[in-house]
Amino acid sequence: MYAVTLLGLLGLLAVPATSKALKYAIPVSLKATDCTFPANYTVSNFTIYTDRTDSSKNSTSFLFDDPRTGINTSCSRNSTSKLIGSNRWPCDDSNVEFIYQTTGIAGLTLIETACPGNVPQFEASGLIRPDLACTNSTSGTTCVAKQSPIVGDFDSLEPAPPPSR
Ligand SMILES: *[C@@H]1O[C@H](CO)[C@@H](O)[C@H](O)[C@H]1NC(C)=O
Ligand SMILES: *[C@@H]1O[C@H](CO)[C@@H](O)[C@H](O)[C@H]1NC(C)=O
Ligand SMILES: *[C@@H]1O[C@H](CO)[C@@H](O)[C@H](O)[C@H]1NC(C)=O
Ligand SMILES: *[C@@H]1O[C@H](CO)[C@@H](O)[C@H](O)[C@H]1NC(C)=O
Ligand SMILES: *[C@@H]1O[C@H](CO)[C@@H](O)[C@H](O)[C@H]1NC(C)=O
Ligand SMILES: *[C@@H]1O[C@H](CO)[C@@H](O)[C@H](O)[C@H]1NC(C)=O
Repeated sequence: MYAVTLLGLLGLLAVPATSKALKYAIPVSLKATDCTFPANYTVSNFTIYTDRTDSSKNSTSFLFDDPRTGINTSCSRNSTSKLIGSNRWPCDDSNVEFIYQTTGIAGLTLIETACPGNVPQFEASGLIRPDLACTNSTSGTTCVAKQSPIVGDFDSLEPAPPPSR
């Protein structure tokens, strides 16, 4: 009888941990870390401009918000942006990076540093596929996501690549 009550109590105690509803498993090395893990995010005003003649005018931009970790930042890729690694672009907040591609893993991948400063450093990532509406002008084409904000889930947590690449 006592055992049943105790198990019931343990079951209740376990609820707060699972109610975080993360879509990935937290590695053992981070289990004791007291930090807010990235769970989901919104992307607003996703816009791609492709110039008809001048590739330096091409740009991709959007706003990123993670309400739980409190990161709210603007993200853009333009002629002055510095590529990170082979295919990542930085957001203004250095804890957030993105990949946008129309082939391979097509869509917009958001990558957020999880528990910044923790060693080893982990990062969460998640993919959304904005549905675009495009309009042409004499100078180029502007494509805007039909939905804004778009909610995305972080469904992967992996060690971050080394910073010096
Ligand atoms: C985002 O994740 C949190 C924590 O899991 C959850 O409470 C919230 O409902 C989620 N929001 C959306 C829009 O999915
Ligand atoms: C985002 O888009 C909305 C609707 O087009 C616009 O009102 C708003 O000013 C935009 N925000 C930014 C920061 O560009
Ligand atoms: C950039 O602009 C050029 C010229 O307008 C275009 O041909 C090219 O496809 C664009 N590249 C990207 C990555 O959008
Ligand atoms: C966060 O960003 C969104 C757009 O992505 C904006 O509408 C909102 O006002 C921002 N919130 C805060 C608290 O800065
Ligand atoms: C160009 O992209 C960088 C980030 O790579 C951003 O800080 C800057 O504001 C962007 N410039 C314009 C004109 O959007
Ligand atoms: C807009 O321009 C692109 C590239 O020049 C072209 O492929 C597309 O058909 C045009 N769309 C419309 C609606 O005119």
